[in-house]
Amino acid sequence: MIFVTSDFHLGHKNLLEKYQPNRSHWPDVEAMNNGLLQEVHEKVGSEDELWFLGDLFMAGSKDRAQEFLRSLVKTAKRTLYIPGNHDKEAVRKIDPQWLLNHRVILGEQIHETKLRGRYIVLCHYPIESWPRMVYGAWHLHGHQHGHGRKLSRRMDISWDAHNRILTLEEIGKILDLDEPMKHHGH
Ligand SMILES: [Fe+2]
Ligand SMILES: [Fe+2]
Repeated sequence: MIFVTSDFHLGHKNLLEKYQPNRSHWPDVEAMNNGLLQEVHEKVGSEDELWFLGDLFMAGSKDRAQEFLRSLVKTAKRTLYIPGNHDKEAVRKIDPQWLLNHRVILGEQIHETKLRGRYIVLCHYPIESWPRMVYGAWHLHGHQHGHGRKLSRRMDISWDAHNRILTLEEIGKILDLDEPMKHHGH
């Protein structure tokens, strides 16, 4: 199975306060960090893939990035990591061999993939017009924490938008109901 999520903001105290009530059952940042990582460890098994679309943690050192990433990816068969605005500097400093050893693939800022004939465009930020949109490509993004505008075949998969991590299968069931976008621009 493929699991998809983003924007845990581990260690981000302001966010814990700002995004109440959906994180309010965690008394402090430490409990929030553990709760979010525990959900990943319970759901994502050794046969599963994880797509994490950025903002795992707030800005920090390479060591901090490795510490959080090591915990995020430990149960997954492999992890596709798309950097977010808060973590891209630290994540890009990580040694490629370390990523390889931890089965992490660092994606492009706008990352295109194809699965069973379906194009999927992954990016931390929401895109207004994405590659192959008119041919039914899906676009999955984070960053908005559930506060963005809905577009056909585009989904905010961030943790706060759903209060849980999603599977690609359930995302597909929702997006398949959407009409393909009409082509407006050039
Ligand atoms: Fe975020
Ligand atoms: Fe962000």
